[in-house]
Amino acid sequence: MDPVNISEFETLARERMSRQAFDYVAGGADDEITLAKNRAAFERITLHPRVLVDVSTVDTSTEVLGQRISFPVLVAPTAFQTLAHPDGELATARATSAAGTIMIVSTLASFRLEDIAAAAPGPKWFQLYCCKERAATQQLVERAETSGYDAICLTVDVSRLGRRERDLRNQFTLPPEVVPRNFEDAANLSAFPQTERRSLLTAYVADLLNDSLTWDDVAWIRSITKLPVVLKGILTCEDARLAADMGVEAIVISNHGGRQLDGVPAGVDVLPEIAAAVGDRVEVLVDGGIRRGTDVVKALALGARGVLLGRPYVWGLAADGQAGVTKVLQMLHDEVELALALCGCPSVEAVSAGLVGRR
Ligand code: GLV
Repeated sequence: MDPVNISEFETLARERMSRQAFDYVAGGADDEITLAKNRAAFERITLHPRVLVDVSTVDTSTEVLGQRISFPVLVAPTAFQTLAHPDGELATARATSAAGTIMIVSTLASFRLEDIAAAAPGPKWFQLYCCKERAATQQLVERAETSGYDAICLTVDVSRLGRRERDLRNQFTLPPEVVPRNFEDAANLSAFPQTERRSLLTAYVADLLNDSLTWDDVAWIRSITKLPVVLKGILTCEDARLAADMGVEAIVISNHGGRQLDGVPAGVDVLPEIAAAVGDRVEVLVDGGIRRGTDVVKALALGARGVLLGRPYVWGLAADGQAGVTKVLQMLHDEVELALALCGCPSVEAVSAGLVGRR
C-alpha cells in the first residue's frame, strides 16, 4: 500500500512496529481524553476561504527564530526513535534537512546529539530535559552549542512522567539495543525493575529528571547559553506572560501530545488567548493533533507562527525509514500548499484571523 495520507501511514506503522513500541508512541495519559481532544479541536474549527484571489504561485515558506524554513511545520522532539526504525534520529535528521525545516532533537534520543547533528546539515534545536544535577544539564547544553544546534527547547511539562496505561498494560520496556545515548550511564537503564505501577520509563525519568524545576532554572539556562531559549509545554496566558517577561525567544503551546496531564485543553483551543496575551514579545508555536495541511492553516489563522509535528513522522519512519519521513513531510507540505491556495492565500503572511470560525 502506498499511503495517500498521514492516517494511512499510521496503519502501516501499526503493522510494522511491535505492539509495545507502537503503543508507547501512540498512547496518551490516563483516559486519553486530552489525546482525543487534540484531534477533536481541529475538527471543530471551520475554514472561511476567500475566492477570486490569484494563487497561481503559493509561497509556503516562513521564518522561525530568524530561520527561513520551507513550510510552517517543525519536527517535534520524540524520544527513542530507533523503536520505530534502526536508523532512528539519523534518518529523521536527513529527511528533515532535505525537506528544509527544523528538527528538534530529544534529550532522550537513541543516538548521540553530536551524531544526529553530523548526519545532515540544516537547522536543529536541542530539546532539553533538566537533570537533577545542574552539571549534567550544563554539559548537555554545552554539547548542543558546540555541535551547532540553533536553539535550546526546554520542556517544562514533565516534572513527572504522565501515567501511560498502555505502557503499564504492555509492561513496556526498551529493547536492549534502544538506549538514550546522550547519557554515559545509559546502560543502567536496564537495571530498573519493571513493576505493575511504574513503567520502566517512569522509573528512569523519576531517577534522572529534575522535578523541582522553577522559573529560576529558566533564568539559569539563559545565563549559561548564547542560544535562543524556547519553552515547550505552556498552556496558560499567565505562564506565557512569565516566559515573555523572562525574555525567552519562543514558546510551544503544548500538552505533550496528550501524554502528560490528562484533562488539559488542546493547544489549538488556548492558542488565540495566549497569542493575544504575549503579542509579538515571543514567537508562538503550537503542537498536538496536526494531521492535515488544513490543520496547519487553522493554527496559523489562530495566531501560531508554526506548528510541531510528532507522531506522524514517527509513523513514516516506522513504515520506510528516511524515505517514509520524507514522504510524510512532503505530503504535509503539499497539503499546506493546497490549503493555502483554496483559502485564497498566496503566502503564509496572507493568512489572517478571519479565515477561521466555529460553525
Ligand atoms: C517522552 O517525552 C515521552 O513523552 O514519552
